[in-house]
Amino acid sequence: MNLTGGIAWHWLAWRSKARWAPTSHAIEQWLLLNAQAFKPVEVQGQPSLLLIGASAGWMMSSQWLKQFARVDAYDIDPLAAVLFKWRHVAALKAAGTELHCHTRDALQDLPSLLSSHPKACVFFDNVLGQLRFQNLATDWPLVERRLKQFKVLLKGREWGSIHDRMSGPTTNPIEHISDLPVRHADWHDQKWLAQLDAQSPWLDHLTNAIFPAGLAVQDFAWNFSPNYRHWLQAGWVRP
Ligand SMILES: C[S@@+](CC[C@H](N)C(=O)[O-])C[C@H]1O[C@@H](n2cnc3c(N)ncnc32)[C@H](O)[C@@H]1O
Repeated sequence: MNLTGGIAWHWLAWRSKARWAPTSHAIEQWLLLNAQAFKPVEVQGQPSLLLIGASAGWMMSSQWLKQFARVDAYDIDPLAAVLFKWRHVAALKAAGTELHCHTRDALQDLPSLLSSHPKACVFFDNVLGQLRFQNLATDWPLVERRLKQFKVLLKGREWGSIHDRMSGPTTNPIEHISDLPVRHADWHDQKWLAQLDAQSPWLDHLTNAIFPAGLAVQDFAWNFSPNYRHWLQAGWVRP
């Protein structure tokens, strides 16, 4: 059973489009800003992307994907490919971006994907924070060890991730159209959690050591439902 995707995710994402839009927009701005700051590694003169945990790309920006000449999207969910194409193929086609959707366990198969696409960038799209819900669920140190392994596998590669850092209930209901909390650079985690209106205890998604030490990360609030928020963290690693 897919606890982090599948029909339940598609239904929720479709229904929550308006509620999640400010977060999707903030992620898009971050991705586009990153795109200006880095030049994706060229594959035969063309930048290429492996997008992992793509689902239907409910929170993914076509604008950002369009800068790549080729996008390979991966998800274990058999519905993902058709829905991803439905949402993104027109924009990508208009921009001349080749799109290939695959139904595959891209985390398990990452070593072979990397060797088949030796110069592609990799982006983990809100998938690494879900590892704790999968078959390793009760062995948290094992989940953390596995998550730390990704940066080792990806050494020398251009890659990024956005993932859940923590999530949980809020002390007050979140207004449907409310401003997203924004983290100031000098805030420690407790102050940020207070800003998120977090009602303790929040769930730790075990993702705090995914990126190489010292990497500048970006934090996002995600108003998941009227009384549940996620703290998303994103980073982009250059070789
Ligand atoms: C929270 S959803 C994020 C979806 C997507 N990024 C979006 O914006 O709609 C996590 C996705 O990761 C997928 N996933 C989980 N484990 C995976 C794996 N090992 N390989 C590929 N996809 C996986 C799930 O099926 C699910 O669609």
